[in-house]
Amino acid sequence: MENFTFYSPTCFVFGKETENEAGSYVKRFGGSKVLIHYGGESAKRSGLLDRVQDSLKKEGIDFTLLGGVKPNPRSGLVYEGIDLCKKEGVDFILAVGGGSVIDSAKAIAAGVVYDGDFWDFYRGKRIEKALPVGTVLTIAAAGSEGSPDSVITKEEGMFKRGASGDAIRPKFSILNPALTQTLPAYQTAAGITDIMAHLYERYLTNSKEVEVTDRLIEALLLTMKHEGPRVIADPNNYDARANIMWAGMVAHNNTCGVGRSQDWNSHSIEHELSALYDCAHGAGLAVTMPAVFKYEMNHNIMRFAQAAVRVWGCQMDFEHPEVTALEGIECFQKFLISLGMPKNFEEIGAKEEDIPKLVEVLCRGDGRQGSISGFVTLNEEDCTNIYKM
Ligand code: NZQ
Ligand code: ZN
Repeated sequence: MENFTFYSPTCFVFGKETENEAGSYVKRFGGSKVLIHYGGESAKRSGLLDRVQDSLKKEGIDFTLLGGVKPNPRSGLVYEGIDLCKKEGVDFILAVGGGSVIDSAKAIAAGVVYDGDFWDFYRGKRIEKALPVGTVLTIAAAGSEGSPDSVITKEEGMFKRGASGDAIRPKFSILNPALTQTLPAYQTAAGITDIMAHLYERYLTNSKEVEVTDRLIEALLLTMKHEGPRVIADPNNYDARANIMWAGMVAHNNTCGVGRSQDWNSHSIEHELSALYDCAHGAGLAVTMPAVFKYEMNHNIMRFAQAAVRVWGCQMDFEHPEVTALEGIECFQKFLISLGMPKNFEEIGAKEEDIPKLVEVLCRGDGRQGSISGFVTLNEEDCTNIYKM
């Protein structure tokens, strides 16, 4: 196991009707003038936005609203949010929505207290300072409710990039699984896929002797394997929703990633797809992961074989572990397809003729030097091959 520091100070408030406590938590964390940031229509339609506003009013907290965050959130609204916060003297940002809304809120929070262009953080500068952020989560997926990360797409060039720093870990996150019952089945499945991706990206490690985190990841993957089909069959199953929601947080606040190197090649390769075609991030991952895994498999056959046996229940073929490894990857892909996820480029609206452009932005865009690096290093030729797969 490698040395690590793990600092994850978010206060999680979990369970039914907890969104009504948003105001008291904003107060507890020092907010007096709040920006409520939200997405399209879903939080309005369900009455959630009204309930959150009521809870702030009850505490006598002043607020202003900024909606319109799109899935795969854009830099344009972030600039607008930064200006609004400065003009209104906002001291706390409350995100009501999914990963996209939370990431946009985090970008605004970092940008308000920074003199330069907030995009510097998405080109590698670490976020050291930000306004405090709280969240009311409406979809179990990205894990942004507990993560130190934010992913934004810059409209000029359509670069989809991530920024990081403990300063943008939410101060509190309200997780009411019942709020996710209004999700379309496709979004639920995309969320499940993303959660499983966050687990696999950590499982694919070059670090040795990481039994605790290996076993935690396997436990969470088994949970998703059990709860995924249950929630697709019965969207109102609160308990299945609850297990998935907590798994989504644990999968990505790095509890499962400490002390080990991680992969993230599937995510980098996917981000170009959701940037260019605006597909759901989870749907893009359902297409990219099996291809990346098959491409990376020979780097450490036993790691894939171990997942195949422990998670997917495959029989270990000791003479030909590559057969077991491949079987595990295929079981995973079949599982995602059974939830309603796409299996190829065509089903997410991607086009083969765009591959050179995707590879160029992925490997050269915004300062990159011709490759991406995780479990293995992938150069432009590798990435081209993976997109073709
Ligand atoms: O905009 P509204 O109307 O709210 O609709 C959203 C959106 O269309 C809808 N939705 C959310 N909650 C709902 C609901 N519809 C009905 N009922 C509800 N309760 O679902 C759609 C997708 O929402 P979005 O926030 O985009 O989903 P998700 O949480 O999957 O976030 C995806 C974004 O997070 C990034 C992704 O790249 C993508 O941009 N990621 C962020 C990470 C992080 N910050 O740590 C890590 C991830 O790997 C990921 O890259
Ligand atoms: Zn993800």
